[in-house]
Amino acid sequence: MKKEEERPVLKVEGLTVRYGKGCPHCLEGGALLKNTCPQCRTVWACRAVDAELYPGEILGVVGESGSGKSTLMKSLYFDFPVTEGRAWLTSYKEGGADIFHQNLQQKKYIRNHIMGMVYQNPVLGLRMDYSSAGNIAEKLIAAGGRSFSAMTGRVRELLAAVEILETRMKEPPRYFSGGMQQRVQISKALANNPAVLLLDEVTTGLDLSVQARVLDLIRRIRQEYGISILLVSHDLAVIRMLADRTIVMLDGQVIERGLTDQILDDPQHPYTQQLVHSLL
Ligand SMILES: Nc1ncnc2c1ncn2[C@@H]1O[C@H](COP(=O)(O)OP(=O)(O)OP(=O)(O)O)[C@@H](O)[C@H]1O
Ligand SMILES: [Mg+2]
Ligand SMILES: [Zn+2]
Repeated sequence: MKKEEERPVLKVEGLTVRYGKGCPHCLEGGALLKNTCPQCRTVWACRAVDAELYPGEILGVVGESGSGKSTLMKSLYFDFPVTEGRAWLTSYKEGGADIFHQNLQQKKYIRNHIMGMVYQNPVLGLRMDYSSAGNIAEKLIAAGGRSFSAMTGRVRELLAAVEILETRMKEPPRYFSGGMQQRVQISKALANNPAVLLLDEVTTGLDLSVQARVLDLIRRIRQEYGISILLVSHDLAVIRMLADRTIVMLDGQVIERGLTDQILDDPQHPYTQQLVHSLL
């Protein structure tokens, strides 16, 4: 939970991502249709997003489809360059360096040592033809792992933590169910003991019972490892169960932020009110 005197482990300021070149109209701040420039069709997927993630906290990110949630996550993981904006991680150069303006090697270091990512689409996060153990070993090697026996032990431990049976660790994720694939992604994301875990719709599309197990797993991870988690979901029930604080996105902008209970019980912005009430 956030305490006022604590420093955020991750701070994001003015994150803007645009898909397209822009034109005089939108570059000068002209009106958009939702997130799209009516003149040049450039998509402004994230617009001046500010966020702070505190130690051990789960920060929820909600919003309708296309509101920019995955774009936010992917740009934090350097999959996609930001158009504008800055971000700092306490565990990188003691929070003194903007991570977006580092060279490729430094960004790789941050990805491999400080962050873990679970993609909405498992195909983006896993090599479907490698063994599951191999997927995790790859991340360990990227983070500097050299000793085969140490890595084998660690792979076992990580798969056990997400309840994947040892007898199945040689199988490629291609043969796994959706819930198991997400659990392999989670164990891969945890491989380097990241300070920050990015989870993008980890439970979407899973059966309710499988979903419950994954939610439970996330709770346990937070408890056992004290990791700070940025959790994207369009499912308010998931957000209510897991997130301490929440930001609400609409058309690329953060329109509301606060304690999750406050936002869900007493939403202030008309869009959030509609979102919450459509569920009742
Ligand atoms: N590579 C791309 N090129 C062009 N536009 C894109 C690209 N990726 C995403 N977009 C657009 O950017 C906007 C934000 O997309 P994003 O995937 O971040 O939304 P989201 O909130 O994650 O949605 P969902 O809940 O459906 O996953 C959308 O309008 C989308 O069409
Ligand atoms: Mg998404
Ligand atoms: Zn334009």
